[in-house]
Amino acid sequence: MEEYKELSPSEFFYRNKEIAGFSNPARSLYTAIRELFENSMDACELNEILPEIVISLRKVGERQKTEIYRLYIQDNGSGIPKKHILNALGKMLFSSKYVIRQSRGTFGLGGTMSLLYGQITTGKPVKVVSSTGNSQIHQYVFKIDVRSNQPKIYSEKSYRNYRKWRGTIIEFYLEGNYPKAMRYIINYFKLTAAITPHADILFLDPYGTMYYFPRTINKTPQPPKKIKPHPHGIDLELLKTLIERSPSHMTVKEFLVKSFHRVGSSTAVKFLKYAKIRPDTKLGDLDDTLIDRLYTALTSYDGFIAPNSDILSPIGEDVLREGITKEFRPEYIDTVTRPPSSYRGHPFIVEAALAYGGEIPGQAGDITLFRYANKIPLLYDEGSDVSYIVLERLKQSYRISSDKPLAIFIHIASTKVPFKSVGKEAIADAPEIEREIELAMRTLLRNFIKYRRRVVRKREAVRRLKIYEKYLGLIARFAKQLAGREEVDITPLLRKIRSRYKVEESVETD
Ligand SMILES: Nc1ncnc2c1ncn2[C@@H]1O[C@H](COP(=O)(O)OP(=O)(O)OP(=O)(O)O)[C@@H](O)[C@H]1O
Ligand SMILES: [Mg+2]
Repeated sequence: MEEYKELSPSEFFYRNKEIAGFSNPARSLYTAIRELFENSMDACELNEILPEIVISLRKVGERQKTEIYRLYIQDNGSGIPKKHILNALGKMLFSSKYVIRQSRGTFGLGGTMSLLYGQITTGKPVKVVSSTGNSQIHQYVFKIDVRSNQPKIYSEKSYRNYRKWRGTIIEFYLEGNYPKAMRYIINYFKLTAAITPHADILFLDPYGTMYYFPRTINKTPQPPKKIKPHPHGIDLELLKTLIERSPSHMTVKEFLVKSFHRVGSSTAVKFLKYAKIRPDTKLGDLDDTLIDRLYTALTSYDGFIAPNSDILSPIGEDVLREGITKEFRPEYIDTVTRPPSSYRGHPFIVEAALAYGGEIPGQAGDITLFRYANKIPLLYDEGSDVSYIVLERLKQSYRISSDKPLAIFIHIASTKVPFKSVGKEAIADAPEIEREIELAMRTLLRNFIKYRRRVVRKREAVRRLKIYEKYLGLIARFAKQLAGREEVDITPLLRKIRSRYKVEESVETD
């Protein structure tokens, strides 16, 4: 006889840790740090706070092939209201981010999963201290009960918040492999710093090394805004939920205007004509056939304006330039922002940069791809990411010759990034996104080729000038002797050659 049972969300992710990025001790350590750090960054940026984040990782024990670490992370973000602390971090699939808005977090899983991973590898509870900046600071020590998906409290304290401190501190133990994860962790912070020069990030690693990424801009990015769903981004289930949540005496027209992004009353009237539904039909009178018709019409009508992209929070070209320059000191940098676009009702923007020379890593001629989605650097699963596929294709048509390493930075900001898994490492190839990435990369590669051509031409001119300067004088002197004429001054001639090849006087020619 088969035995049937139900799994709680905690138990499901406990059994399938890999899909959330917890596959081996090195990768799990990386994912845990990343998820908690991203929560801290969200807690700051969604509330227009300049982030100050401290992460400390200390080795506290050893096992056969792995080590036990204590991870401490402190931020100056919004803090979590007392009544939500335990659920936010002690319960899987509980989130403040289940709204349509651009943010790093979306699944209600990452931070909690990191704590659960710590608990199942070390058996120790988690300590969370948080305050929203009011008169109290709250501290909880708890574990996650996997079977019931509920937090189990070990201790609970409140302190007076004399200094009006605001933020969150999380401290817990987990198994990991820092020597193997180190490269990824440091890269992750460096790449984050390269697009968030307004953040102050300090990482203390288990070897006692301090990695400090200082803030160089004192301006917070424009925070993203919440929006209502766009008619092209919904499915039948969501439509039914929206109808159920509205009063049954409301008319279809009022419902459309109230529930959807980009639907005003004249659009609603035009649309309902197209859908062949009377605008004053009451929601309570919509039967399944009518709801079906409404749904099909909503997704196929092309009279809706594309979703508004003002609600997104892109990095911005100046900030991108500043951040990359601060972290990589390139010789050449070029940035591009594509016009906003949308896919299946979700607005998105692609931003990109190409940097060359300086401290850009790699061999001469290499093009390293740095991928970002909603300001998260993506370091794993590169091969299946849409940007990688596009770049590989473009490399064939733009044969780049370069004497130094190159890097392309690609950022996609959207209210919904089509991640391939909850581990958030690779982006699926929605055709609209692929097209924008391709156009951004083409612009950057074209500009770079032009720049290289200019540099190479100049170098060639300098080489020629050296020869002219050496021989023109001699030729002039011999010519004078042969012809018995006055010596000619060749300086104006050299100046003419210099200006033809745009070589400044100051360029050394010997
Ligand atoms: N440092 C923090 N400051 C303020 N709130 C936090 C912090 N960390 C977590 N939270 C709250 O806890 C919730 C759950 O976090 P968790 O990382 O599990 O999910 P998420 O960030 O919503 O989504 P994702 O799974 O994509 O990361 C968040 O939505 C947020 O409300
Ligand atoms: Mg999160």
